[in-house]
Amino acid sequence: MLCLKTSTNSGWIDVAAANMPAIMRDHAHCEKKAALNALNLIMRYPDKTELVREVITILEEETAHFKLMVGELAQRGLNLGLDKGNPYAQQLSSVVSKQEPMRLLDLLLVDCLIEARSCERFTLLAASEAIPPDLRGIYHSLMASEEGHFMTFVEIAKTYFPHDVVDKRLEEISDLEANIVRSLTNQPAMHG
Ligand SMILES: [Fe+2]
Ligand SMILES: [Fe+2]
Repeated sequence: MLCLKTSTNSGWIDVAAANMPAIMRDHAHCEKKAALNALNLIMRYPDKTELVREVITILEEETAHFKLMVGELAQRGLNLGLDKGNPYAQQLSSVVSKQEPMRLLDLLLVDCLIEARSCERFTLLAASEAIPPDLRGIYHSLMASEEGHFMTFVEIAKTYFPHDVVDKRLEEISDLEANIVRSLTNQPAMHG
């Protein structure tokens, strides 16, 4: 599914379902960081019009997801809380080249894999009977959106780089992503 080379560790969903306030908070912060990341891409590559136009749509959608999750937290008497960071995304980002034009390709493909992994985890959350139905419905609705973002990042990459170069690099970064996911210790976080 979605170019992912390994599935989430089997124990994660039980930890997540038992710690939904922590998952919701971490998820809200993930949406915030996805929006920030979109804005950073636009700021870094203002001369790339197709990128800017596509990423503006992602920025709007991630901001809407952030607002949705802050609202869901508030409805349950929960605040956003501190951002505890995302070691998975940090590790994955270490692969990003320091030099252009490879830096752009790597940034797009790392984003694409984070979207794909998020989509996979939303699928697990949406299917868990241990999670309240209203929340499952929200995660179900977010699955399609994140899958769309995954595809958009690949399409942007293929606008600016030869397709075989994109496919080869995506293959390499997917291998790294799978290794990181296998090493995770089932924390109550979106990518834990
Ligand atoms: Fe999102
Ligand atoms: Fe997204």
